[in-house]
Amino acid sequence: MSDTADAVWQTIADAPRTTLGELFANDPDRLALLSHRLPIAGTDILFDFSKTHLDAGLIANFERLAQAMHLADMRDEFLAGAKINNSEDRAAEHTAERGLGAADSVEQAARLHERMAALVDAIDQGVFGEIRHVLHIGIGGSALGPKLIIDALCRDSDRYDVAVVANVDGEALSEAVDGFDPAKTLVAIASKTFTTTETLMNAESAIDWLRGGGVEDPYGQLVALTAAPDKAAEFGIDETRILPFSETVGGRYSVWSSIGFPVAMALGNEGFSEFRAGALAMDKHFATAPLASNMPVLAAFADLYYAQVRASQTRAVFAYDERLRLLPDYLQQLEMESNGKGVRRDGSPLGRASAPITWGGVGTDAQHAVFQLLYQGTHLVPVEFIASRLSVHEFDEAHHRALLTNCFAQGAALMQGKTSDDPQRSYPGDRPSMTILLDNVDPASLGALIAFYEHRTFANAMLLGINPFDQFGVELGKEIAKSMGNRQSGDFDPSTAALIEAAGL
Ligand code: F6P
Repeated sequence: MSDTADAVWQTIADAPRTTLGELFANDPDRLALLSHRLPIAGTDILFDFSKTHLDAGLIANFERLAQAMHLADMRDEFLAGAKINNSEDRAAEHTAERGLGAADSVEQAARLHERMAALVDAIDQGVFGEIRHVLHIGIGGSALGPKLIIDALCRDSDRYDVAVVANVDGEALSEAVDGFDPAKTLVAIASKTFTTTETLMNAESAIDWLRGGGVEDPYGQLVALTAAPDKAAEFGIDETRILPFSETVGGRYSVWSSIGFPVAMALGNEGFSEFRAGALAMDKHFATAPLASNMPVLAAFADLYYAQVRASQTRAVFAYDERLRLLPDYLQQLEMESNGKGVRRDGSPLGRASAPITWGGVGTDAQHAVFQLLYQGTHLVPVEFIASRLSVHEFDEAHHRALLTNCFAQGAALMQGKTSDDPQRSYPGDRPSMTILLDNVDPASLGALIAFYEHRTFANAMLLGINPFDQFGVELGKEIAKSMGNRQSGDFDPSTAALIEAAGL
């Protein structure tokens, strides 16, 4: 990190610690500075960061940090398709899947999307016989996105039943195929590398399940979603049902590519296009808005303030909408696999805290389980609330009013606190939160929301000097698991050897 960046960090750390209450009292224009309604892709998203400790002074200092870390230049390079993922010597081109990036990449992504849409149409038209179910097999970035989007948007879909299976535990596969008729099931094998052991094992077992269910040509019911089409062909999948995507699209950024095939199946091609259009609108905002009113960047300023200056080791995300209940899981991979790193892009030690631990849940359930710690525990946990102005369920609208009032009440109460003569009943208050209010949970809003999180993760990474697009940290565990089958228990440390013995492996 440059001397200038270090000096700016020092200034940020030395800034006076004004309470949230004082910040509101001192600045009547606080909402104008920190609460932004963004018209996006035909909808509106309200980003309220006013209950964080950011103020004009801190924002100005973070802008100086952004300058010292070349955030705007790095963003422009990233969006132009430069090789921003330096450790793997390649670009990170998920935005090209939405229509923003190097012209040839955008054009190639559009061609591959057309190919996927044609396959979805053909399935709709019965070219593969009567298909009712889709079994999507993938893990990590090849599962979490489809799972989230389908759970959020396809609750009432009368198109296909889609089950997503990730875990190598046979219980997961067994649960996923429960109720599926093998003759009417399409199996989508989603793996960027087409080498992931869990996915390939589940795929083999799914083929056995199809065969066991009387399907004579199980391979005729397979579709591959991958950046390694040759490997999928070697596996035995017909070229016409291999949907490739670019090597430059990272796993945790891949839901926009053919990894989104089950989303297109459940939602329809049009819905999947709207989802990508929502993300594109956020890409354009990220590409052009001044840093102080650029939502992903402003959110990253707050993230860094708490992780670096106030020593917050975690950040909590609560979806006050059942449709978004899987969002915390999705964000865990996005944020922790991207920025959970102890070295910078150039390999030098990070020298400060990496990304905080992302955790969370769904409101109002979480209020009755974990909020005690948020209110009175000793950890300072920045909290994020995500809610939707509209609901679509069939029950009385009182449910949605109660949901939203509970959501807004938590942010107010965390900030406000309460004094009492009884220490047990005192709340310190001054606890920060952000609130994101969607108009509705629809394809465009969800696309924009996920793109917001992607760019926020990128902004955090650039401000720290991290490469957010590799994940070497996950390799060692995979290697040891692979080798365990071929080695004697004596080759391991005493604890691991005893576990191997005890399990009879
Ligand atoms: O092990 C981590 C990881 O590489 C993730 O980054 C990725 O999303 C996941 O595994 C699945 O990889 P693949 O899509 O290649 O099967």
